[in-house]
Amino acid sequence: MPDLIEADVIVIGSGAAGLTAALNVAAGGRQVLMLSKAGISAGSTSWAQGGIAAVLDAGDTFESHIEDTMVAGAGLNDRRAVEFVVEHAAPAIERLAALGVPFNPGETVSERWHLTREGGHSTRRIVHVDDATGWAVQKALETAALENPLIRFLPDQVAIDIITERHAAGHGFAGRRAMGLYALDRASGHVRRLLARAVVLATGGASRVYRFSTNPDGSTGDGIAMAWRAGCRVSNMEFNQFHPTCLYHPRVKNFLITEAMRGEGGILRLPDGTAFMGSHDARKELAPRDVVARAIDAEMKRLGIPHVLLDMTHKPAGFVEEHFPTIVKRLRELGIDPVTQPIPVVPAAHYSCGGVLVDLQGRTDLAGLYAIGEVSQSGLHGANRLASNSLLECLVFGASAADEILARFEETPPPADIRPWDESRVTSSDEEVVVTHNWDELRRFMWDYVGIVRTDRRLERAAHRVGLLRSEIQEYYGNFRVTPDLLELRNLVEVADLIVRSARERKESRGLHFTTDYPGLSDPPRDTILYPGAA
Ligand code: FAD
Ligand code: SIN
Repeated sequence: MPDLIEADVIVIGSGAAGLTAALNVAAGGRQVLMLSKAGISAGSTSWAQGGIAAVLDAGDTFESHIEDTMVAGAGLNDRRAVEFVVEHAAPAIERLAALGVPFNPGETVSERWHLTREGGHSTRRIVHVDDATGWAVQKALETAALENPLIRFLPDQVAIDIITERHAAGHGFAGRRAMGLYALDRASGHVRRLLARAVVLATGGASRVYRFSTNPDGSTGDGIAMAWRAGCRVSNMEFNQFHPTCLYHPRVKNFLITEAMRGEGGILRLPDGTAFMGSHDARKELAPRDVVARAIDAEMKRLGIPHVLLDMTHKPAGFVEEHFPTIVKRLRELGIDPVTQPIPVVPAAHYSCGGVLVDLQGRTDLAGLYAIGEVSQSGLHGANRLASNSLLECLVFGASAADEILARFEETPPPADIRPWDESRVTSSDEEVVVTHNWDELRRFMWDYVGIVRTDRRLERAAHRVGLLRSEIQEYYGNFRVTPDLLELRNLVEVADLIVRSARERKESRGLHFTTDYPGLSDPPRDTILYPGAA
């Protein structure tokens, strides 16, 4: 493959956000080069279970979905972004249905699709495909993209950094903008220049910065770190969402038990059978996720137990099997029958509410660079994401960013002459153990010190350790040839630093950021915005 590839638009990431943007750009007649660092289906999108929230029921209203989103977000949401997403939800679902996503049909004549319920929603408003919605969405979008002659897909390419005017070979280049990226080809180990007039970051979240996570391996915050290094602001990084119910199992570490189980009547119990959510929140199992995750964490710490239980045994066997076929099958393979046995569950890092700061068109601070989906901070989620609003955000911003790129395409100059990747001063590492050791250490202290409950002292310890790891990894990066693991570790430590710095700036407890040193709320609510170069 050549060292330099050019396209009209490059999309980094092939989940719901990237695929939606690619399809919309291609519909406007422009060519798209779409990358992913592993296979096309390897992002979080394929793993999504519960569904997609939208106002589809005659008794539901935009105002109610907006209100639920803002209550879950603890008032930190940008109301314009919430309205924008909520109002574009129904057409986005229609587009998926037209692409062949087989949403579960309604159970009455007046209900087109079955609507399930999850925590924080005041009504049933979530369309789903059994308990494996993400897989169906991913497959439908992927099929359409692979059939589109204007979309070229390059798997196994690890984006390293955004190319800006700093990388232009000649002088006299005016204005800061993105012109492409450097990417490592896994098969050959070579780094290529990929150039375009617009680059879209659709690289997903950063939850793998924590030791326990519901996410696939690739959620290492690459897009956030790349945008930050390219000079973009990032925001609200302290708000990493912990999903209350990840399966607790000695071998299987990141299998989610969907919130829809609680939506359909699941009860959280202690090992002695006591239902405990009522003593933490009046909304019980259907309180927003931050509340439920903290309640579980508090009970586990109070009793010194390694997990709690999610009980569906009071529901008819047929109901559980019919509504949750994927989960039932997987649990039975692991020797747990959820029809007769409660499921052991623990909270785990699930979703990055913060990210690259963007406007309603997905524009970042750098001209030509867009960020959409979980990599971004669009204002939708505030201090805590409402369940099933994430796939929706991917669909709505994937389309709005594509519209913006198409509208500006003619006025954007083509990329300049860009220097090739320079490997003249590095050698191959003979100490890969440095990468694995630092990787483990980072995730462990992020879990212990920057988890569900924080204190000033824990954050200070974390900051100290991030600093040490950061300089060690920087030195390693400067001396050795890049590998996929090293690139991910470099990004993880960057993201850990952003999370810890943001958490230390917030002197209150709001949404997902809970600190015993500042248990109250401060007024007015404020985003945490970090400025590159101001470290
Ligand atoms: P992803 O789908 O994560 O895709 C990221 C893409 O970027 C991948 O293709 C990856 O290979 C690529 N990439 C990353 N870094 C690089 C790099 N350096 N170079 C090249 N490519 C790169 N949300 C809901 O709304 N409803 C749900 O029911 C739901 N259930 C969930 C269940 C689970 C278990 C999980 C983990 C998440 C769930 N979520 C749900 C959240 C939702 O799935 C994600 O937020 C959403 O899918 C993110 O989509 P995305 O397109 O932004 O990123
Ligand atoms: C779930 O199914 O519980 C996950 C839903 C989400 O993350 O929005």
